[in-house]
Amino acid sequence: MMKASKADVNDDAKALGRVAFVDGRGDLPMIEVTTPWSSAEIYPHGAHVTHFKKKDEPPLLFLSQCSRFADDQPIRGGIPVIFPWFGPREGLGQHGFARIKTWDLKEFIPAADGSVTIRFSLPACPEASGYPAFTADYIVTVNRDLALKLVVTNQSKDREFVFENCLHTYFSVSDATAIAISGLNGVSYLDKVASFLEKTETGDAIRISSEVDRIYQNTTGTVEILDSRFGRRIRVEKSGSASTVVWNPWITKSQQMSDFGNDEYEQMVCVESGNVAANSITLPPGATSTLEVRLSSEPLK
Ligand code: BG6
Repeated sequence: MMKASKADVNDDAKALGRVAFVDGRGDLPMIEVTTPWSSAEIYPHGAHVTHFKKKDEPPLLFLSQCSRFADDQPIRGGIPVIFPWFGPREGLGQHGFARIKTWDLKEFIPAADGSVTIRFSLPACPEASGYPAFTADYIVTVNRDLALKLVVTNQSKDREFVFENCLHTYFSVSDATAIAISGLNGVSYLDKVASFLEKTETGDAIRISSEVDRIYQNTTGTVEILDSRFGRRIRVEKSGSASTVVWNPWITKSQQMSDFGNDEYEQMVCVESGNVAANSITLPPGATSTLEVRLSSEPLK
């Protein structure tokens, strides 16, 4: 384990050829990670993984060509960390403040198996002042797979901490209309495109041919994305998560988003793991919640 000041990283890990600090887009600091199997890019802004690629595979994550890279703006693509609320909140921005804060880099751990683990902590910020005292750590491990862990502890002695969380993962796909998303058959969902009407998934696979914006509830299972044109299967395994959100903005919404290309909906799908809406978390004083997501992929045989 090594302490993670910028100098330490550059002196020690850079020597190992695994971690480097560079200027990312919009002059935001960025961490480049290289392992024997993969590469990744992570911005302390939002503790945001914007890129993960296994050798001999296309990138796993979609990143919009039109994304903003600025201190007070979320990045469009990669894995936004959504916390402490999901969706709109009256008088406040959508999807919480964690994704627009610059997280503190606490440590990096280049392990003997070739993996690199980086731990971030959400800094104290005015937006958190209405909440009970809490800490939020985000631990990213880059290896053959990409493993993510969001650990929230209620530090208050006498107040419950009620929050939502979500790792809002944008996957890069060959053609959104040609993929099949499985693992949600029989699960009930709120259909945001139909005014939050509650429905039940009836098909083995979800296919995209119009705007999709669904909160699947009370579901802890693994979701897979079958992408035959890219010749790969993506697996989203999770624990500490009771909700899965599936989102593709399709044509009109893409045109309305200023930080998203008009045609980019064809190249992405979000499969998001977290605890939102009725699955929001109520954390008693002193308790900890851990949301873990493992993203892996394999070529189709
Ligand atoms: C999804 C929501 O999780 O995020 C959608 O279900 C929303 O309703 C999408 O449009 C993108 O949100 P934002 O704030 O990043 O534009």
